[in-house]
Amino acid sequence: MTRPAARVAVLISGEGSNLQALIDAEKAGRLGARIVAVVSNRGAARGLERARTAGIEALYLPAARGQERSAYDAALAALLAPREPDLLVLAGFMRIFSAGFVDQFAGRMLNIHPSLLPKYPGLDTHRRVLEAGESLHGATVHFVTAELDAGPAIVQYRLNIRAGDTPDSLAQRVHVGEHVILPRAVSWFAAGRLRLSGGSVMLDGRALHEPVAFDEGGPLE
Ligand code: GRF
Repeated sequence: MTRPAARVAVLISGEGSNLQALIDAEKAGRLGARIVAVVSNRGAARGLERARTAGIEALYLPAARGQERSAYDAALAALLAPREPDLLVLAGFMRIFSAGFVDQFAGRMLNIHPSLLPKYPGLDTHRRVLEAGESLHGATVHFVTAELDAGPAIVQYRLNIRAGDTPDSLAQRVHVGEHVILPRAVSWFAAGRLRLSGGSVMLDGRALHEPVAFDEGGPLE
């Protein structure tokens, strides 16, 4: 008996190019999951339009002025509950969650971050990487835990920084890689290959000691 496709909710705040990569992977039969809802905390997020175009429910949940973090998270949880997501994917969602929300979705929430974590958590990664004179950069998909951008890493995309790279050129190259690794991580989860166990990432029944790596220009399988 085939099991029902995993139900995925994607949380966004902006452009939604990573959401688009997930939509495209689902359409191509590469995700093994169904995107059941897209939620944005910003009404103008282009990703909401991308969801509607794809026939996916697009929900706007603004934060009220002065609203406590936990109150927003409770409203989000209430919005998500009837959609019964198996997995939440943070794809450029620019809010930090309360510990209670993170607990509720422990092992069922992935984030994509534009750096090679644990290096450069937080914002403005491309500029900071250049200022530090790094030679390597990339993106990471990780399980979300209470500490910002610090959950166990699953898969990374790595690229060599070139002379003449700018924050914009890096953002563009990193995005290309994000669109490779995010659908992969979601498809592994949906296939039951990926889980979080006692703080370790398990892929195909084995604990990952370091994230799976894809290199710019290298094979993508
Ligand atoms: C990505 O760089 C992601 O790593 C970060 O926010 C950006 C979202 O881009 N968390 P997009 O909205 O998916 O185009």
